Amino acid sequence: MLDSHRSCPDGLKSTMKNLIFDRSDDVSTADLKKLYIATFGCQMNDYDSQRMAQILRNRYVLTSRPEEADLVLVNTCAIREKAENKAYSLLGRFRKLKKLRPEMVIGITGCVAQLEGGRLLHRMPFLDLVIGPLEIYRLPEILEDGRAAEKWPSVHTELDRDFSIPLVRAPLPENNPVRTFVTIMQGCDNFCTYCVVPNVRGREISRPPGDIVAEVEHVLAQGVREVILLGQNVNSYGKKNRDYPCFSGLLRAVAGVPGLERLRFTTSHPRDLTSDIMKCFREVPQLCEHLHLPVQSGSTGILKRMNRHYTRDQYLSTVDRLKSICPEIVLTTDLIVGFPGETDSDFLDTLSLLETVEFEQIFPFKYSPRPGTRAASFEDQVPLHVQNERFEEVLRVQNEIGMRRHKVLEGRKQEVLIEGPSRGDRSEITGRTRGNHVINLPGPAELAGEVVTVEIERACCHSLRGRLPGSVSLQDEGFTSVTNELY
Ligand code: SAH
Ligand code: SF4
Ligand code: F3S
Repeated sequence: MLDSHRSCPDGLKSTMKNLIFDRSDDVSTADLKKLYIATFGCQMNDYDSQRMAQILRNRYVLTSRPEEADLVLVNTCAIREKAENKAYSLLGRFRKLKKLRPEMVIGITGCVAQLEGGRLLHRMPFLDLVIGPLEIYRLPEILEDGRAAEKWPSVHTELDRDFSIPLVRAPLPENNPVRTFVTIMQGCDNFCTYCVVPNVRGREISRPPGDIVAEVEHVLAQGVREVILLGQNVNSYGKKNRDYPCFSGLLRAVAGVPGLERLRFTTSHPRDLTSDIMKCFREVPQLCEHLHLPVQSGSTGILKRMNRHYTRDQYLSTVDRLKSICPEIVLTTDLIVGFPGETDSDFLDTLSLLETVEFEQIFPFKYSPRPGTRAASFEDQVPLHVQNERFEEVLRVQNEIGMRRHKVLEGRKQEVLIEGPSRGDRSEITGRTRGNHVINLPGPAELAGEVVTVEIERACCHSLRGRLPGSVSLQDEGFTSVTNELY
């Protein structure tokens, strides 16, 4: 099981050199060992965990019980200290399992593995493998090697400049997924002063368009209806490759793949959001009207110190332009409170930006100094108690805005792609609007994968409650709570 702690035109042909895995259906599951994968961090890591499960599927079957696993992989995130510590504490639990079953193989993969490398072996001598995010595709070979030559523990953290994400042709690990991610680029060149990603994922490399289209075709053939294109800054897709389309061209090519119901992408850098990309929201019917556009701060001074390459006014005018091109657009954002040097007045600028833009949902974070980043050595670090106060204030302000925005939807009808049974209440179903609002409603699980019209009955600040037209209103039945997150 993948445990998550917390998705063509001629000339876009797949590069066959990247076809590294094809399924072999003649392996009986009785012959397979057991694999447990825990995943922390962003959608990139979700995607990578899926790929690991796929490339190992000739030897391992997924289990949801780490205590019975032969191979345990913890796919880690280094974005904030807290994320890193969560991975260490889980690994500490697995150390106890390994004492009971010494033959169990334990590996740390992902961004913490890349950041810390061999130092992890001193900290956690029970580890067998340390594998950075670009090396995960070598797992079959690494596992083979270790067995033959007793080479473990071993560390694999090359950040190869020529790396290209392989095309994996194997069934997706989940049963009947309705939506999935397709990574279109690796790494980041932006070097925001707070961010560890360029250090752990390397320089920006776009994936060949033919591979992207081939992967989209592959997932659609397995029943996927919605694809989310992934990258740290998808808007700069193809900039380094003269023969690749730009991002808006890629969007149009992917949207043209037969059978695709819905298309989304994340994440966008505001500086690179061109008019061509904005127009896609109006002109590409499959592209849903939701944009995650991280602002990080509402203060021009702080944005400069963050090396974000836009001012508050430029961000606001980008949002205005987008809203004039696509009035239905639903906006969400990330922001950091307590960045070094952030004064009360800078913070008030962030609050006023929230009021001006009226995001549907925000993802706020307290600044966390990261090794190897420029901001970690800035002198004027903001004390934790101030960060805490600002964090609470941002949540309070946004809860009101989010509620206000959601209330507007009450009584309206929305197109919803049903994903399956609701997490909170298995007798209900859950899905998403085109604007990416999570909506829960009574209905049969067989609707998974269908787009249905849903009437919005009740709005909460993180999700919606609805019903299929003609069905009984749950408000009449005294319904009181909604639990799902927006995303
Ligand atoms: N590539 C994406 C996001 C990457 S990380 C982008 O540029 O938008 C996701 C979010 O984590 C960031 O948007 C930022 O808000 C937050 N983040 C990154 N580094 C951080 C740090 N050192 N402390 C706190 N939050 C951080
Ligand atoms: Fe980090 Fe900035 Fe790159 Fe996003 S754009 S991954 S925040 S360096
Ligand atoms: Fe975390 Fe790595 Fe993603 S640091 S946010 S898992 S790219």
